[in-house]
Amino acid sequence: MNELNVTIGLLAGFFTLWCLFAPVVAESEEEPKKLNPYTGNEQAIQEGRKLFVTYGCSGCHGLGGGGGMGHPLTDDVWKHGSDDATLMSLIKGDLTGSTMPKFGQTLNDDQIWKLIAYVRSLYQGDPALIKW
Ligand code: HEC
Repeated sequence: MNELNVTIGLLAGFFTLWCLFAPVVAESEEEPKKLNPYTGNEQAIQEGRKLFVTYGCSGCHGLGGGGGMGHPLTDDVWKHGSDDATLMSLIKGDLTGSTMPKFGQTLNDDQIWKLIAYVRSLYQGDPALIKW
């Protein structure tokens, strides 16, 4: 193979790889996944509301989520992102750079999803921005 053939071969190789992986990359940039099994579930939202008081979330965020020491939960400003996976890791304490107390030792995933369902029920921002 001469040098030109090698170059063409490499370009063809890269093109093939790009064709294979570009759709995968594009997919990961799509809308975030809806992971919470309790979104919109009225009973889970009520349980989430109880947990919100019991575990002191309301102490910082206010019972209605209006804010105070913690960020407001009713608006469309989400410091780390609004999707389910982000809020789950934020509440667990897995998100680096978050200043919120970690609840990963205290609460299980099921309880946290119910809390998130409650947080979703407080939202008063633009419905077009809902990603959950
Ligand atoms: C000691 C005060 C405090 C407590 C208690 C607390 N939070 Fe927070 N919360 C914060 C702070 C501060 C932030 C902002 C975190 C950041 O900037 O990284 C936050 C952020 C959040 C966010 C993201 C808000 C946004 O706009 O980005 C959610 C959702 C949330 N908290 C839910 C909860 C839940 C659910 C609980 C109870 C399990 C809870 N918080 C308990 C202080 C608190």
